[in-house]
Formats: sequence, structure tokens, C-alpha cells
Amino acid sequence: MDSVSTYRACRVAIIGSGSVGSTLAQRIAEKNLADVLLLDVVEGRPQGLALDLLEASGLVGHHRQIVGTNDYAETADSDIVVITAGLPRKPGMSRDDLLQVNGKIVLDVVRQAIAHSPQARFIVVTNPLDVMVYLAWKATGLPSQQVMGMAGVLDSARFQTFIAMALKVPPQDVSAMVLGGHGDLMVPLPQYSTVCGIPVTELLDQATIDRLCDRTRNGGAEIVGLLQKGGAYSAPSAAIYKMVEAILLNQSRILPASAYLRGQYGLEDLYLGVPCRLGWTGIEEILELRLTDAEQALLQDSGDFVKVRTEQVLKQML
Ligand code: NAI
Ligand code: 2OP
Repeated sequence: MDSVSTYRACRVAIIGSGSVGSTLAQRIAEKNLADVLLLDVVEGRPQGLALDLLEASGLVGHHRQIVGTNDYAETADSDIVVITAGLPRKPGMSRDDLLQVNGKIVLDVVRQAIAHSPQARFIVVTNPLDVMVYLAWKATGLPSQQVMGMAGVLDSARFQTFIAMALKVPPQDVSAMVLGGHGDLMVPLPQYSTVCGIPVTELLDQATIDRLCDRTRNGGAEIVGLLQKGGAYSAPSAAIYKMVEAILLNQSRILPASAYLRGQYGLEDLYLGVPCRLGWTGIEEILELRLTDAEQALLQDSGDFVKVRTEQVLKQML
């Protein structure tokens, strides 16, 4: 009985109970992965969502605690804090238009969350992603391996989907890799994207590959344009789930994440999407792929773009 009474379920706090946050809560609960604390600035919203998820538990067979709250004290001792608080893009708006408004929100929520969960790993989702992760890292004061951003898993999933559609194969047979910042300058890597081990460069002509890369870079905007209100949340929440699972189950999985770079890929003092090994402690390792000169130049451009905006925001906000 002792082992049962001392058992402590993993806890995931989700700050921001909008489309992405609430869908993530549902995914975590339905897979029985961890208890979930849903927090939002809007009163009633996280409580209502949590109750709705609990009322589904008997039907879908999950048994996790789900708490909705406006009070950070209730998120205490979370193992992972996911930051989805902020405004999503509106049609015609770039991720960078969100820089100021979401920067203030991220600083505020991260400071409150870390006060109650000083050991947590933080996964930032709010856009503009790579700049927001840097702000969050500064606000937490944690080692950089504990603070990361989600974008590469989503961007790679989009590339995977488009490759699968072009080749008429199941997406599960496709492994795709996208590096760089979460924006128009992201860097899809066809030579590291394979179908059952065969590089797509051997399966598709260059014009088709270029078209799929462009569609991937424009993946978020394509959904925003179609929905007209709000952004993507199904694939984003599935991507965050994969990172949460890799950490909580200590899987040591290789997933692209926005990570703090100290000279890797020739880039210094910025957060950018690179392949990482994710496990219980967070980012256990950053992997350095051998890139062509052209790919390295694209990654450098993406890094330069992110770094300028990061410095601009740091000057204004910290
Ligand atoms: P949403 O508008 O549906 O939800 C955002 C939630 O944050 C709202 O419920 C709002 O009340 C809450 N919020 C705002 N200020 C807050 C504060 N100070 N404290 C607590 N909660 C606060 O937006 P959605 O679609 O869920 O997207 C959330 C963010 O994630 C956006 O910035 C979006 O651009 C970004 N995103 C990033 C992706 C990525 O790949 N990194 C993918 C999808 C979305
Ligand atoms: C996306 O890529 C809006 O960044 C978000 O869907």
C-alpha cells in the first residue's frame, strides 16, 4: 500500500486555456498521461473546460485530475508548464505583429508560474515563438535546458503531411525535419526527410519539393486564412503533447525544438529550432546535423531574423 499512497501523478500546468491549451488538456487527459491544471485570465473559462473534460472521463475512460483555475497557487509543483497564453494571429497579421502584446503576457504569466513550480520544465507555444521562449527563459532564471519552445514538431508534421499527400503514402511512413525559427524563414530539410528511409530528394522532383517547402513555411497562415477566426490548434496541441510525453516518460526522443544555442550551427545567444534529445530533465542534448552550405545559409538567415527581434524585445521589456 505504501507505494500506492506515496504515488504522485505527474502534473502539467497549461497557462492559457484557449484553443491550443484546451485541446492539449484533452489530449493529455484522454491518454491518461498526467494531471492537468488549466489556467486562464478569463474567469470561468478554465473551470468550465475542466468540468466538461471531467464529465467526459467516464465515457472516454480517463482518470486524471483536471482542475480549472485563475489562481497560480493551484498550479504548484507542476512538472511541466506549457505557455499558450496570448493572442493568436488574425488574417493578414504576421507572427511578429504579436511581439509586443504577447511579450508582456508571456513575461507576466511565466513569472507567476515559476514562483509556484520552481523545478518545472517550460514549453512555450505563444508566438512569435522563438523570441517568446527567450523572454520566458530570462523570466524563469532556469538553466536553458529546462526552457524550450514548440514549433519544429508542428512544422515537421506539416511537411510530413504534404510529402505524404504528394506521394500518396500514409504519413506514418514519412519522417520529416524542419529547423530554424517558427516563421517564414523556417528551413525544411528535404535531404533529412525520408519515406521508409528513402530521402524525398530521390522520390520527388525539385519543383515539387520547393512547392511542399513553401506550403510548410506558410502552414500556419494557410489555416488562419481558411478559418478566418483563430489559428490552428489540433496539430499544434498534438505536437506539444509529443514533447510533454517525451519529457514525462523520459523517452530521450529526438524532436525538433526551439532551444538556446551557444555556438551550435555557428549561432550564439538565441533560441532557434534545432533537433534535440528530450527527456525528463528537458533538453538533454542538441544534435548538430551536417548541412549543405545552402541549408546553413538559410538557417543563418532565420537565426539573424530571430536574433534582431529578440534583442529589440529584450531592450524594451527587460
Ligand atoms: P486563443 O486565443 O484561443 O487562446 C489564448 C488564451 O490565452 C485565451 O483563452 C486568453 O484568455 C488567454 N490569455 C490571454 N492573456 C492571458 C494572461 N495574461 N494570463 C492567462 N491567460 C491569458 O489562442 P490559441 O489559438 O490557443 O493560441 C495561443 C498562442 O499560441 C498564440 O500566440 C498562437 O499564435 C500560438 N500558437 C503557436 C503555435 C506554435 O507552433 N508555436 C501553434 C499554434 C498557436
Ligand atoms: C501556426 O503555425 C499560428 O504559429 C501558429 O499554426
